[in-house]
Amino acid sequence: MVSGYSGYSEELKSILENAKNEISNATDSKQLNDLRVKYLGKSGIVTSLMKKLKDLPPEERPNFGKVVNELKDEIEGLLEERKSQLMESEKQLLYKKLWVDPTMPGARRARGHLHIITKVQKELEDIFISMGFSVVEGPEIEQPWFNFDALNTPEWHPARDAHDSFYINDEYMLRTHTSPVQIRTMLSRKPPLAIVAPGRVYRRDYDATHLPMFTQMEGLYVDHDVTVKHLKYFLEEFARRLLGENTKVRLRPSYFPFTEPSFEVDIYFNNRWFEVLGAGMVHPNVFKNVGYDPEEWRGLAFGLGIERIAMVKYGVKDIRDLVRNDIRFLENW
Ligand code: DAH
Repeated sequence: MVSGYSGYSEELKSILENAKNEISNATDSKQLNDLRVKYLGKSGIVTSLMKKLKDLPPEERPNFGKVVNELKDEIEGLLEERKSQLMESEKQLLYKKLWVDPTMPGARRARGHLHIITKVQKELEDIFISMGFSVVEGPEIEQPWFNFDALNTPEWHPARDAHDSFYINDEYMLRTHTSPVQIRTMLSRKPPLAIVAPGRVYRRDYDATHLPMFTQMEGLYVDHDVTVKHLKYFLEEFARRLLGENTKVRLRPSYFPFTEPSFEVDIYFNNRWFEVLGAGMVHPNVFKNVGYDPEEWRGLAFGLGIERIAMVKYGVKDIRDLVRNDIRFLENW
């Protein structure tokens, strides 16, 4: 306050009082702006007071002018103060709305995983690789000579029945087993050798235990002095590593044209015997067909069904569930 000044008149006091109330009650910048116009605008309350100056007696004018200017400054100050208060709280509100909490868990993309057939195949590959076998592959579209003749499977054998196999023409067919990879490997390599050959095979079958397309893994070990003892050792070793220490393996006499003797191999797991593979000692005729001397070389061979093994390991009842692509089934593993 300027010295000598007697104070605001009643009128000015009530203007200031009103302005204080209204300004402190303003809740957004729009209301505040309206108040600025109301008091300080061209035809606002304070501006019109100034216009009264010229009607006053000359000796009163300086004091009145000073007082009205002070009032104007005061209201200006109140408006500014309120404006920064409002801006601050609007900013806080906006921050609240936009606030990102970096400690919250993010939106996760669903992750896929390998199909259990692929998983079991890879596990089997790892087990046999660790025992010195290498992994090889052969074509799914095969010539009957590799699929049958070279494997000592004569024309009269039931497996050659057109009803059991998918023939493309007289020269090509879909392989019915992975055993032709034995032939291709022996033709391209010299013994000794140890291979496993995983891959798809095709047969005209479709029920709870058979698919028209399924996966096998062939095994072949050719060396001097290979015996059934070695065969049993490899089979027991792979079964225990895949399914656990208590797994048992049983060989039953059987017949395959390309082995002599031949066996059905059962695996004892979860208190049950499962028939999961065929095996045997390579037939001398097979060695002759690939140019190996059957007097010098001995071989053990086996062919296992990967779906069967997956079913045993994961307790799957219907083989068709493996290929229905129902994610609710597949994501159990
Ligand atoms: N190839 C036979 C099949 O698909 C399985 C098999 C049996 C493979 C005995 C072999 C074997 O290598 O020695 O039924």
